[in-house]
Amino acid sequence: MDVFSDVPLQRLNTFALKVRAACLVEYDSSAELEEIDFKVLPQPVKHIGGGSNLLFTGDFPGTLLHSRIRFIKPVEMQEYVLVKVGSGVLWDDLCAWAADHGLWGVENLSLIPGEVGAAAVQNIGAYGAEAADVIESVEVYEPATKAFSVIPAADCAYGYRTSRFKEQWKGKYIVTSVNIKLSKEYSPRTEYGNVRSALAERYGELEMDNLTPSRVRETVIAIRRTKLPDPKEVGSAGSFFRNPIVSKEAYRHVEEVAAREAIGDVPHYNMGDQIKIPAAWLIEKCGWKGKTLGNAGVYPKQALVIINATGEATPAEILALEKAIVESVRNKFAITLTPEVEHI
Ligand code: EPU
Repeated sequence: MDVFSDVPLQRLNTFALKVRAACLVEYDSSAELEEIDFKVLPQPVKHIGGGSNLLFTGDFPGTLLHSRIRFIKPVEMQEYVLVKVGSGVLWDDLCAWAADHGLWGVENLSLIPGEVGAAAVQNIGAYGAEAADVIESVEVYEPATKAFSVIPAADCAYGYRTSRFKEQWKGKYIVTSVNIKLSKEYSPRTEYGNVRSALAERYGELEMDNLTPSRVRETVIAIRRTKLPDPKEVGSAGSFFRNPIVSKEAYRHVEEVAAREAIGDVPHYNMGDQIKIPAAWLIEKCGWKGKTLGNAGVYPKQALVIINATGEATPAEILALEKAIVESVRNKFAITLTPEVEHI
């Protein structure tokens, strides 16, 4: 375990904001976690993952906890393989491991930044798949009672980019490992967006019944690289906003605005009584794509991504851009975007 004081956080947030934390504790095992006396640490205490879905709104006065529990251990092998994965494992290392072993389930989630523990809190998703599809249970530690327990996925209330860990259990548990069920059975998911066409282009139409987790993984990686910034090059936290899910009435209003302004058809996905509209489209149609405000900007290839355009952005500049985008989308379309990125 390592304890650091007055720590620069540039390497702990993919926005690469130059902020600091009063204290950082990085631990390597559940046993070390149990040794930590939370009461004596600078408050508040906040657990972080890879810092890829966080916006530090300023220097952090308390303690950041970070897991370095890193193992991938198959625990059950049937027609499926159950793997126990330490919370500090990079999510994409798990995806690479699964692909190398010919196992299905996480290939569509390749190259998502962040760590396994955070993935189980946030229910990361991409290309028609989400972490909840494969999570069997989540192993946690509760600092208040010093108890370890295993929470079945069914009790985690997984939804679009959310779970109980983000809502009523916020701050209650620390994820130590996640049990993930991968499949040996041929089960590619190619329906989202251009995944199918990208696979066919890469491997040939004749190979479409002969896919492997590695092939899907490589294709998803290629798609992501064309659309999303590499955090090593341009600071960002991926999608900054959630895709809004609105009433049919609210959707009709967007259609009316689009017709009046001749800005094209409104992309949308029906979800029962409600309709999901890509936030990227709303933002782009407000003229934000590729625009900057001070040192913060909207990524030119994906309007849902706010970037640290010059590397020198301050939290205030990111927040100012967020506010300006929310206001213009509200003024034009009467929809209020909510951030997907957690503000600390
Ligand atoms: N679109 C635009 N302008 C753009 C980009 C997209 O109009 O600049 C419209 C297009 O109509 C496109 C639609 O938005 O068809 C959807 O775009 P895309 O498939 O790129 O996905 P998204 O809804 O913008 C979501 C996730 C991403 C994930 C992709 C792919 C959220 C908040 N974001 O984005 O997740 O990679 O789907 O599955 O759900 C993340 O969470 O950090 C993240 C990157």
